[in-house]
Amino acid sequence: MRRYFVGGNWKCNNTLAQTQSLINSVINKLVFDTNKIEVAVAPIFLHLPWVQANIQKNVQLAIQNSSLTKMGAYTGEISVEQVKDFGIPWVILGHSERRQFYGETNEIVGKKTRLALDQQLSVMACVGEKLADRESGQTTNVIQAQLAAIKKELTIEQWSKVVVAYEPVWAIGTGKTASPEQAQEVHAFIRGWLKSQIGTQAEQATRIIYGGSVTEKNAADLIKQPDLDGFLVGGAALKPAFADIVAAANKGR
Ligand code: 13P
Repeated sequence: MRRYFVGGNWKCNNTLAQTQSLINSVINKLVFDTNKIEVAVAPIFLHLPWVQANIQKNVQLAIQNSSLTKMGAYTGEISVEQVKDFGIPWVILGHSERRQFYGETNEIVGKKTRLALDQQLSVMACVGEKLADRESGQTTNVIQAQLAAIKKELTIEQWSKVVVAYEPVWAIGTGKTASPEQAQEVHAFIRGWLKSQIGTQAEQATRIIYGGSVTEKNAADLIKQPDLDGFLVGGAALKPAFADIVAAANKGR
């Protein structure tokens, strides 16, 4: 019932020539069933015009961040109105790198999510625990607090435009993937939270995707988990391996 979702988060990687090559040699050659799976990629802001003009129609675009402020005198920002105006349907918010390096708190992520949804954008909302949280048994508390800050800002209807990305911080860029069982445990927790805090519709319809060292080698095992609806891919999204990850999701459970 839920369509799988695979996002490629390109982070602050690639020159324009590298992005062009990735689009031409990997992204525009992806073949998948759009009834079964959605695919979106997130280049850096500056590359979006070229990518938008040259990407195959089945792959959607995402922006990696949006502003906490609206259009106006806010030097260096890009607001959700401008994202919408430019025709970008998706925004990644609350990525752990934004939280870690740019001071984004749960409250900021909640507010940014509301601003984006108020513009009818769709949001990949990222949550995840640090290694120390996991080791001290705080994983679900941390995730619950991250989700609660988003819930506080949204109407129940707005959850239909949210994909929750579970990205354990200790697995991002480390080559240490959560095992399928570890991922499923947290995904099931998030689904339970959606049921108790938002409602049955959100519980059943919300995609919960996994991110953190996803590769062409582990994607097929991860996707077998019943509460795992796809991936948010970093490093492997810059390589031909992304095609294998999309193929694994297209095959499904
Ligand atoms: P890696 O796939 O490089 O671990 O990054 C995951 C991620 O942060 C996606 O948003």
